[in-house]
Order: sequence, then C-alpha cells, then structure tokens
Amino acid sequence: MYRIAVIPGDGTGPEVVREGLKVLEKIGTLYSIDFDIKEFGFGGERYLKTGHVLDNDDINTLREYNAIYLGAIGHPDVRPGILEKGILLKLRFDLDQYINLRPIKLYPNVETPLANKSPEDIDFVVVRENTEGLYAGIGGFLKKGTKDEVAIQEMINTRKGVERCVRFAFEYTKKRNRGKKLTLCAKTNVLTYAHDLWDRAFHEVAGEYLEIKSDYAHVDAITMWMVKNPEWFDVIVTTNMFGDIITDLGAMIQGGMGIAAGGNINPEGVSMFEPIGGSAPKYTGKNIINPVAAVSAVQMMLEFLGEQKAAEVLENALVAVLGRMKSMAAGKMGFTTSQIGDLIADGIKE
Ligand code: IPM
Ligand code: MN
Repeated sequence: MYRIAVIPGDGTGPEVVREGLKVLEKIGTLYSIDFDIKEFGFGGERYLKTGHVLDNDDINTLREYNAIYLGAIGHPDVRPGILEKGILLKLRFDLDQYINLRPIKLYPNVETPLANKSPEDIDFVVVRENTEGLYAGIGGFLKKGTKDEVAIQEMINTRKGVERCVRFAFEYTKKRNRGKKLTLCAKTNVLTYAHDLWDRAFHEVAGEYLEIKSDYAHVDAITMWMVKNPEWFDVIVTTNMFGDIITDLGAMIQGGMGIAAGGNINPEGVSMFEPIGGSAPKYTGKNIINPVAAVSAVQMMLEFLGEQKAAEVLENALVAVLGRMKSMAAGKMGFTTSQIGDLIADGIKE
C-alpha cells in the first residue's frame, strides 16, 4: 500500500489532478496496488480565506506519506512570492527534495516547434538542484524605497548540496543507460567561485563513473544547443536558477506546458510530482486544459515508488492517446480534459 498526499492546489490544478488520479486508480485495480489517497487544500483560495499557507505541522503530516502529488500553486489575487515561497518552495526545502527532475521527451505525434526534429532527437533529462542557489532566499534590503536602496539576494552553493546533486545525476545517467553522457550546465567563465565549486565537484565525482562521458556547456550556449542540436543531450545537471530557465525551454521543445512533468526528489525521503504548467487561471473550470502533464507526473511517481511495470503500461496508454489528440494546447485537443483522462485510463491494460 502507498499513502499518497494530493495537493490539487489552484486554478486548473484540481482538474488535471482529477484525471491523474483516475489513471492511478485504474493502475491500482489492474496491479492490485492499494493507493491510500488523502487530499490537502493548501493553495491560494485557502490563503485568501484564512491567511494560512503551509506550516511546520503540515510539513510533519506530509512526512508520513510515500509521495506527494501536486496540481498547481498560484493565484491571480495573491501577490507574487507568497504562495511560491510559502507552499511550493517550503515543501521542496523542508522535505529536502534536493533534485528537480525534468524529462524532456518528444512523444510521437506531438508537435515540436523545432524544424526537422523528431522523437529520436529530443529525449533527455534535466537534473536541477532544488534547494540552494538563488532560490535559498538569503538576502534583504537596505534603505528600501529610497534613492540609495540596496537589494541583495545571495546565491548559496554548499559542497554538500552540489555534490549530492552531481552524484544523483551521474547515478541517474548510469541507470538510464541511454547516451551515457552527462553535461554540466553552469557559467564557469563568470561565476568563478560558485561555479568553480560545481566544476570541481563534477569532475571529482566523474572519476567514479568512468563509463559516463562528462561534458560541459555554459548556460547561454546550452539554450542554443537545446534548440539547434537537442540530440546531443542525454542528461544535463545544473543549478536551481539555470535549471528553472532551461526546463521551460525544454518543455516547449517537447510540445509545451500541457505535456511537461517534473519530480521534486528526495531519494531518502518524501518526493513530490507535478505537472509544471502552473495554475492557468484563464482556463480554469472549462474542462479544456491538457491533463497529459499531470498524467506523466503520475507515471514519474510510479517509477519512483518502484512500480516500473505499472509506469511502463501507463506510458504506453498515454502514447496511444497522444496519437489521437489534435493538439496539445488547451481547447484544441479534440477532446475535453476529462475525456483525455478516460481514454488514458481505458487504455491501461496488461
Ligand atoms: C518551477 C516553477 C517554480 C520555480 C516557481 C513557481 C516558484 O517555475 O517549478 O519551475 O521557479 O521553481
Ligand atoms: Mn519554472
């Protein structure tokens, strides 16, 4: 039995999570896996009503689960930063989900904006550090609101944090067993302290993985190569901020936000899986948002729970449905949100 904490969240989060759970339930029936689902109402709506975001008791409650399944956090009536920091980043930090794993995979029949690129060319994974860097929240203002204002936001890189991320990436590249290549994405030519640490940690750990080819690209250059030669990449390891940026680019080349999923991983603790598209307020409640990313997040969750066979069967069912969809964009899929969920669930067979 697995205990799954579900945070549907804001906007279209609940709609896509519903479809993900439909698919999970089907998997549970087919493989006799018991999923004990508990929903939590954290999000913008609750915050506006009660002022409550997420506290330490909530975090401790969530520690009792095998995994967390998250819809989306973000509300147009809440000032930027409150929900992001108070919920999403707090979950990542307090549960020490130190890896953000973002597969960039173009499925057959999904349109990519890259000319002359096909599924064989776009299949790589970004391993983003998820608890440090510019996201650490260290900083402050001096003389705020005056002409002499100073704003400082520190980038934190600890040897421990960097090394565990790099180590995860090498291990993941080895297990993935595809291109056997790991690319460090950083900016060593400018960030000569912080990224020197990354570079040294990377090369030291590389010495333990001689079967993996280690490679390097500056972050600005990698945005060019991801567009021009995505087939060069197998696994990319990078910092929190750079990873945030390049994975949105990655989502676009794999077919858009409707399809991109991510995992916030603590290999020794509670991990959290989410579609990365956000709360999409303008599509809320219309039954037109694409739930595929949320279903892919379920697939990642199954993989990390160790249910490889179930994850594979789910992916096959998903690919079959992608083949019938007109587009990945909200309102243009040729099906409603709930129909896509039904089709995927129906397609789940031994
Ligand atoms: C993501 C999101 C978050 C991030 C935001 C919502 C704080 O963009 O998961 O990539 O920047 O990490
Ligand atoms: Mn992002």
